[in-house]
Amino acid sequence: MKTTGNTLFIPGATSGIGLGLALRFQALGNTVIIGGRRTELLERLVAEHPGLDAVEIDTSDAASIARAFDTVTSRHPDLNVLIAMAGIMQPEDLHDPGFLATAERTITTNLLGPLRLLAAFIPFLSRAKDPVVMTVSSGLAFVPLPSTPSYNATKAAIHSFTESLRVQLADTPIQVLELVPPAVRTDLMPGQAESPHAVPLEDFLDEVMSIIETQPDADEILVKAVGFLRFAEANGSYPQVLANLSGRAL
Ligand SMILES: NC(=O)c1ccc[n+]([C@@H]2O[C@H](COP(=O)([O-])OP(=O)(O)OC[C@H]3O[C@@H](n4cnc5c(N)ncnc54)[C@H](OP(=O)(O)O)[C@@H]3O)[C@@H](O)[C@H]2O)c1
Repeated sequence: MKTTGNTLFIPGATSGIGLGLALRFQALGNTVIIGGRRTELLERLVAEHPGLDAVEIDTSDAASIARAFDTVTSRHPDLNVLIAMAGIMQPEDLHDPGFLATAERTITTNLLGPLRLLAAFIPFLSRAKDPVVMTVSSGLAFVPLPSTPSYNATKAAIHSFTESLRVQLADTPIQVLELVPPAVRTDLMPGQAESPHAVPLEDFLDEVMSIIETQPDADEILVKAVGFLRFAEANGSYPQVLANLSGRAL
């Protein structure tokens, strides 16, 4: 994708990777609309960053996605990029049937949410100039972190869905990208912002923006730190990587 001249909607940009990418794209002169549920945060971010627009959206709610689609596309008819960023990550103890509530919440937000966003925006984007949809999976799509089973499963599903999406949309102008983050220091999980296993957010964003700039046709955005997960099965290290992740909370 190009790094300038875009109008991007990023549902899931009130914090972390989404907010970081929003500000990086805004700094390059792109028009950016951030989305999320925390309305006070949306208002504060718009006040702090003149030019940024914000739209309230709960991606676990189909009606909220439909409302946000109407608002974003009527305010920004030039919209050409959707980044389906919103996600949650919560531990589950599979001995306890209570895990199911977490699993249902995770699947609704991390899998159904992006699919509903794609259903809403693809017809519009197919008529846009230089259109892009970016999904957000995870290195954990490729080797699971056993303490967060449903999270890993939703991200594996997003990876698989994105592969099919790219093939099916090959007859449209839409470019289909998949961002595959490694562990990054955000508030996704308690303690993650300080985790020694996670990449500092600004370092991650530097590398992502450089990949977008230097490899505009890459299907997957893969920073170096995600390689040990992304290619574990192919290079034969899967059992060892899974064993390493097995005792780990984060
Ligand atoms: N950080 C990592 O290590 C890592 C690794 C791999 C993949 N990822 C993925 O990267 C994405 C961003 O995560 P992050 O690390 O930046 O975490 P984060 O700081 O917790 O950001 C999550 C974002 O998603 C939004 N969100 C969550 N549920 C939502 C909902 N129902 N409706 C609308 N927005 C919702 C949050 O906004 P509100 O709370 O305001 O709604 C927030 O803006 C996620 O998809 C995550 O799975 C992260």
